[in-house]
Amino acid sequence: MRLIAETPTMIATFDRLRTGQDVIPPNPSLSHAGNFLWMLHGDEPDPEDARVLDTTFVLYADHTMNASTFTARVIASTLSDMFSAITGAIGALKGPLHGGANEEAQKMAEEVGKAENAEAYVRERLANHQKIMGFGHAVYTTMDPRATVLKQVCKELGERRNQPKWYEIFSALEETTLEQKGLYPNVDLYAAGVYHMLGIPTDLMTPLFALARMAGWTAHVREQYADNRIIRPGSTYVGPPARSYVPIEERS
Ligand SMILES: CC(C)(COP(=O)(O)OP(=O)(O)OC[C@H]1O[C@@H](n2cnc3c(N)ncnc32)[C@H](O)[C@@H]1OP(=O)(O)O)[C@@H](O)C(=O)NCCC(=O)NCCS
Repeated sequence: MRLIAETPTMIATFDRLRTGQDVIPPNPSLSHAGNFLWMLHGDEPDPEDARVLDTTFVLYADHTMNASTFTARVIASTLSDMFSAITGAIGALKGPLHGGANEEAQKMAEEVGKAENAEAYVRERLANHQKIMGFGHAVYTTMDPRATVLKQVCKELGERRNQPKWYEIFSALEETTLEQKGLYPNVDLYAAGVYHMLGIPTDLMTPLFALARMAGWTAHVREQYADNRIIRPGSTYVGPPARSYVPIEERS
């Protein structure tokens, strides 16, 4: 409970301090999401914005045995403490192939600049064997169901904010990436556009993912402790077969 409650305060306080602004203490009368917007921006949060942010938190909260959750469970399975398990999970999450992808997706949208450039951008990256961030998934082979929800949220938020550009860029990227590589968006593509329009700085997008996933990680760690057995996968040796040892003085 403390980790879930304090992470938003840490992230918002970090941003206020680095931008030379006063720190805003949490307001316990606000929702988890509304309180984060309050501590970050210092304005009474728009209830609709808080609802949108809450939707992203729910969608990011847990997702079976993803890399960071698995990391947390491996650490917990040694009977190490909760904080160590969560620290490890954050380390796994920040990689661009996992939670770091939302920041990369936003940088990509900014580089693309407008929907008309999406096709050339995707074509060039694929030709150079580079990844298109926010696309593909280790488990889903069709559209990530979380992306379906966030696509609609991104569209509606863009209309409400009079900023249709982000939805247009992301949906043009979606169309052309599907066409050219058969890949569908994952959760991080439209989440980036939503966070950007909520005024979240790009380098706080992955910390926000961690904030939301804290609920899932801590629940998994508790579950691990409740019925623990150390997680110790095996591995298959594929190196050279056993060789005979020749004492050094007998070597030519
Ligand atoms: C998520 C991810 C790591 C899954 O990787 P994976 O399980 O190895 O993916 P697949 O086995 O389905 O990949 C099949 C092929 O598509 C390619 N591919 C997968 N995702 C791609 C992407 N985003 N852009 C370009 N090519 C991609 C792979 O390189 C592979 O190509 P190959 O057959 O020519 O070697 C991968 O899709 C990726 O790196 N995505 C971008 C990062 C991202 O958005 N991460 C957030 C995940 S929620």
